[in-house]
Amino acid sequence: MMQRFITERSKKQLTTDSTLVKKAPVSTYTPLLLLLILLTTAFVSSLWSTLSTTNTKPTIIGKKTSVANVVSAKDSKSEEKSSSRKRFQLEATLNCSNNGKQRCTSYPTSGVFEREEGGVCPEYFRWIHEDVGAWKERGISREMVERAKKSAHFRLVVKRGRVYVERYKKSIQTREVFTMWGIVQLLRKYPGKVADLELMFDCDDLPVIRGSSLAGPPPLFRYCGDRWTDDIVFPDWSFWGWAEINIRPWEHVLKEMEKGNRRIKWNDREPYAYWKGNPFVAETRQDLLKCNVSTTQDWNARLYVQDWIQESQQGFNNSNLASQCTHRYKIYIEGYAWSVSEKYILACDSVTLMVKPRFYDFFIRSLQPMQHYWPIRDKGKCKSIKHAVDWGNNHKEEVST
Ligand SMILES: *[C@@H]1O[C@H](CO)[C@@H](O)[C@H](O)[C@H]1NC(C)=O
Ligand SMILES: *[C@@H]1O[C@H](CO)[C@@H](O)[C@H](O)[C@H]1NC(C)=O
Ligand SMILES: *[C@@H]1O[C@H](CO)[C@@H](O)[C@H](O)[C@H]1NC(C)=O
Repeated sequence: MMQRFITERSKKQLTTDSTLVKKAPVSTYTPLLLLLILLTTAFVSSLWSTLSTTNTKPTIIGKKTSVANVVSAKDSKSEEKSSSRKRFQLEATLNCSNNGKQRCTSYPTSGVFEREEGGVCPEYFRWIHEDVGAWKERGISREMVERAKKSAHFRLVVKRGRVYVERYKKSIQTREVFTMWGIVQLLRKYPGKVADLELMFDCDDLPVIRGSSLAGPPPLFRYCGDRWTDDIVFPDWSFWGWAEINIRPWEHVLKEMEKGNRRIKWNDREPYAYWKGNPFVAETRQDLLKCNVSTTQDWNARLYVQDWIQESQQGFNNSNLASQCTHRYKIYIEGYAWSVSEKYILACDSVTLMVKPRFYDFFIRSLQPMQHYWPIRDKGKCKSIKHAVDWGNNHKEEVST
């Protein structure tokens, strides 16, 4: 299936294909913006529907970017039609049958934008503008793109609805494959709406684009950023699945979790803060483990080490995400960089205790303290956790609504 849609081209072919290189626009600002908007629309809205909030307040961005208006105008229309709890269905985008050879239904590759003036964008779209703001005035030059090659795992080109990939090096596990597949699915979900574009993608954890020189920062996509870097954030591969640890695509996990959430009501859950993960990837996680319950102290935390090797040998019986929503409070703490676990923790109908993060992925900056999560201090975690849990258990009405 992958091969059918992602045509891998050798370096030579890509650079000698004059239609690709010569016609590549000098300013790819707008197509990139649109790509991010489509992706954010698809995922953030699904996450939002699980966080029992009313954060659907739109922000007027006006006519600054016609692209944003196009999408948002449609968006707000469908929002009126369904409830604010709308859900995007990604599975409808690929319909493959396996009778003999893999074949997937063809979808039209061109379409027309429904243009409407004066649309409104959800509040969280403003982060996209901020992330690509570095290129807003001067655009993106060929030279800038090429400079991103230094650390990129692949270059991806969308040309008339087809995806072309030039690979530079292998990523960790299957991150690159799932990321490319995500873009292919996006093209099928929004046929004709993804403009021709070219982007460089780095699948490693830590952001690397530091300090914008006179020449301008290279536009490099990755899964997370921080306040010192200019990397452009993109949904991580696990939204489309994480094969190595048996995590299914987001919309499947979300359904399972909603079922799981209904099984135990908030009030009936264990009145403690739960965390399970790999503590060896970051000092802050080892620091967190000190808050575990012992014979001499109880900070209201119940912390466990996830042993993925053992789990994989046991068929992942104990790592089912939906069955981890058993506590009233769940702790989110970064690992080596941002942690993929974030969305799964938030999707439990528990109170998320978020240890002050350094990194951001494409949606975390839109979350509001005391509305979507309870902030936990990085220094003095144990006290902070105990205070949050005690407060929550004493104010059950306020918390569970
Ligand atoms: C997928 O294709 C099969 C066979 O062509 C068809 O019967 C089925 O309804 C399609 N499913 C969707 C979701 O479009
Ligand atoms: C935390 O304490 C619980 C209960 O005593 C124990 O089962 C668990 O293994 C401890 N976790 C760690 C990481 O030591
Ligand atoms: C995992 O769970 C399945 C079904 O519940 C069971 O058949 C299997 O024996 C379990 N595997 C291990 C290693 O515990």
